[in-house]
Amino acid sequence: MASPEPIKFTDSAAYERFMAPWSRSAGNLFLDWLAPGPGLSWVDVGCGNGAFTEMILARSAPMLVSAIDASEAQLAMARQKISAKQVELSIGDAMALPYDGSRFDLAVMALVLFFVPDPRKGAAEMVRVTKPGGMVASYTWDAVRGGSPTHHLWDELDALGIPASRPPNVEISRFEALKALWAELGLRDVETRELVVERTFSDFDDYWLSMVVSTPAGILARLSDAESAELRRRLQARLPASATGEITVHASATAIKGRKAA
Ligand SMILES: C[S@@+](CC[C@H](N)C(=O)[O-])C[C@H]1O[C@@H](n2cnc3c(N)ncnc32)[C@H](O)[C@@H]1O
Repeated sequence: MASPEPIKFTDSAAYERFMAPWSRSAGNLFLDWLAPGPGLSWVDVGCGNGAFTEMILARSAPMLVSAIDASEAQLAMARQKISAKQVELSIGDAMALPYDGSRFDLAVMALVLFFVPDPRKGAAEMVRVTKPGGMVASYTWDAVRGGSPTHHLWDELDALGIPASRPPNVEISRFEALKALWAELGLRDVETRELVVERTFSDFDDYWLSMVVSTPAGILARLSDAESAELRRRLQARLPASATGEITVHASATAIKGRKAA
C-alpha cells in the first residue's frame, strides 16, 4: 500500500462539518472533568477553528485564553467566530510555544497531541508554560482501539487496500503511553478518563457528506468513481439506520490531566 497523504488542516469549513460537532461533545465532557474555576489563564494549544476555545469561554469564565494553531486557515475561522477580548489567537507551533515559562494556570490540547510531530516535546512545552501548581491536560481520540469517529472509514479503506490518512502519532492515544509521558514530565496527581460520545446523522447522505466528503485528508479526491461507490456501499452496509433512517456513530477519547509541581 502506498503511504497516505499527511492530514492537513487547510479547509476550516470542512473541519466544521466533519469534526467540530465531535469536538464539542467530547470537549464538554473534558471540561466537566477538568472542573476549572473561573478567572484562570489558559493556553489552548492547537485551537483549530476555535471549537474548544469557544467552550472554554462560554463555560469557564477565563481571565485569558491564549489560543494557538499552526494552520492559518483554521485560525481565520476562529477569528471570525471569536471576538471576546480575553481570547488572543496566534499562529504558532506546539513544539516551540512562543510564551515565557510559568505563564498559564492551565495548558490544554483538545484533539491535538497525536498530530504533534513529537508528542513528548509538545507536552513538555505545555508543562514549561504552565505555572507551578497549574494543570496540564489533553485528550485525543482513542485511535488505536477503534475510538476515532473515523474508524469505520479507516477500516473500510484498509479493507479496500486504499491507504487511509491517520494522525501520525496514534500510539500516544493509549492510556499507558499518556500516563508514562505525564509521569516522565514530572506531573503530579495524574488522572485519566475515557470520554464516550455519539453523533446522530439524519441519514446516510448526511454521514457521507460530514464524515467522508469533508475529511481533511481529502479522501474522495484520491478515489476512482468505482472505488468511491464501493466505499459508500460498504459503509452503508456497516452503519445500520434506525427506523427513521438516522445513523448513530459512537466514539471514545482518552484524556489525561496532571499538576505541575508547586
Ligand atoms: C483535530 S484539530 C483540533 C482543533 C481544536 N482543538 C478542536 O478541538 O476542535 C487539530 C489541530 O491541531 C493543529 N496542529 C497540529 N499540529 C500542530 C502543531 N505542531 N502546532 C500547532 N498546531 C498544530 C492543526 O492545525 C489542527 O487545527
